[in-house]
Amino acid sequence: MSINSKNFKSFSRLENILIIGNGGRENSLAWAIQKNELVKKVFLIPGNAGSERINKCERIIIDIKNKKELLEKLNFLKVDLIVIGPEIPLADGLADFLRKKDFKVFGPGKDGAKLEYSKSWAKEFMQDANIPTAKFWKVNSPEEAKKIIHSTSIPLVVKADGLASGKGVFIPDSKEECVTATESIFNGKFGNSGNMVVLEEKIHGPEVSVFALCDGKKYILLPSAQDHKRLNEEDKGPNTGGMGAYSPAPLLTKNYLERIIKEIIEPTINELNKKNIDYKGVIYFGLMITKSGPKVIEYNCRFGDPECQTIMPLMDQGFVFLLEKCSMGNLIGSEKIDTSDKVSGCVIASSKGYPLEYKTGFPIKIGQIDSNDCQIFDSGTSLSKDGELLTDGGRVLSIVCQDKDFDLVFEKAYKNLKEINFDGIYFRNDIGHQVRKNFFKEN
Ligand code: AMP
Ligand code: GLY
Repeated sequence: MSINSKNFKSFSRLENILIIGNGGRENSLAWAIQKNELVKKVFLIPGNAGSERINKCERIIIDIKNKKELLEKLNFLKVDLIVIGPEIPLADGLADFLRKKDFKVFGPGKDGAKLEYSKSWAKEFMQDANIPTAKFWKVNSPEEAKKIIHSTSIPLVVKADGLASGKGVFIPDSKEECVTATESIFNGKFGNSGNMVVLEEKIHGPEVSVFALCDGKKYILLPSAQDHKRLNEEDKGPNTGGMGAYSPAPLLTKNYLERIIKEIIEPTINELNKKNIDYKGVIYFGLMITKSGPKVIEYNCRFGDPECQTIMPLMDQGFVFLLEKCSMGNLIGSEKIDTSDKVSGCVIASSKGYPLEYKTGFPIKIGQIDSNDCQIFDSGTSLSKDGELLTDGGRVLSIVCQDKDFDLVFEKAYKNLKEINFDGIYFRNDIGHQVRKNFFKEN
């Protein structure tokens, strides 16, 4: 069955949607959700300076930690569905709290969010379910870590156990670097997130992000995407939250996808059920296609950023119905998403210095933009007192385009980027190099 507003009736009122979060990811979710004709308003708490440029969108500035104020606001706004974007409120149990108050929520409870907020728990989860992943050791002290580092001959990756905004993973080149990374985590580099460390076998292969919308029992897959985690061209430099993406990822052939479903996705959902975790939200599978097949690098309990900005323009107006169905636990599982026949790509414009130290508050100048199948989602922006758009984050803007092939997509995205300027603007010129036929000709 194909989901669109003609053949799918919402089970209930779906006029006022609330999205929690303030990034490009949340703006792109709002953009896709507002396409549905039943939706009258999309509220974002807190959103950012770009949110209100999106049709039907309004920002609400309240502190979500103030539960009393939040509830009063949600009741006042008559919110029909809540979508929680980032991992921190999910890990704090916000979805559990709102569900107890009878709101429909897309986003897992604290138990499901553990897939992301504890890497050691996720590794044990995979071990229990026999899901292919890198070998690992869970360690509680630098001494314990050193013993393992010096007793194994396999190259290792070092990870802080808890949430670290995508910065808690080290890929050392030597045993010494491995020890230093472990010590820096135990010395408090990531606060309590570093109370435990996971040492992992270093595995190799291209990476791909797969997203399953899940209602607790059933799931459906969004188009896959390929992120670009490293800061610099040729995939060099430090890891970032993601400097660009494209979707769908041709790397994920039908054969691989079938294996991933059988060996990874279905065992994950079965294991969640076995552990009595009623997961209503998106499961983000960060995968590596190794020589011995697809393996899980990480789980996240939210949409990827910038993968979400890349995928959302491919959704038709039935997307919000799928989120609602997940929140209510009544997905059929055979729904087909009416995706566009186009492909999509995203380039992130970031602040100089990101992912380390960077300055904010620089005016953003946007010239003549080709808006034909192109979107600019603000990732980290604010408005000055005079209403001028300013940089307000490491990742500032997500420039997204769709077309019939990736060459055209990135040609448009980079043409639009030439029209955008702010002090210290930085972006990679090689996003999508894997799928741009003309990339090697140009370079
Ligand atoms: P994560 O935050 O767990 O996604 O890790 C960030 C990045 O580190 C991944 O996208 C990979 O590029 C790399 N990485 C993580 N774990 C491993 C591993 N076991 N072997 C090789 N690379 C890894
Ligand atoms: N783009 C990677 C992430 O959202 O974690």
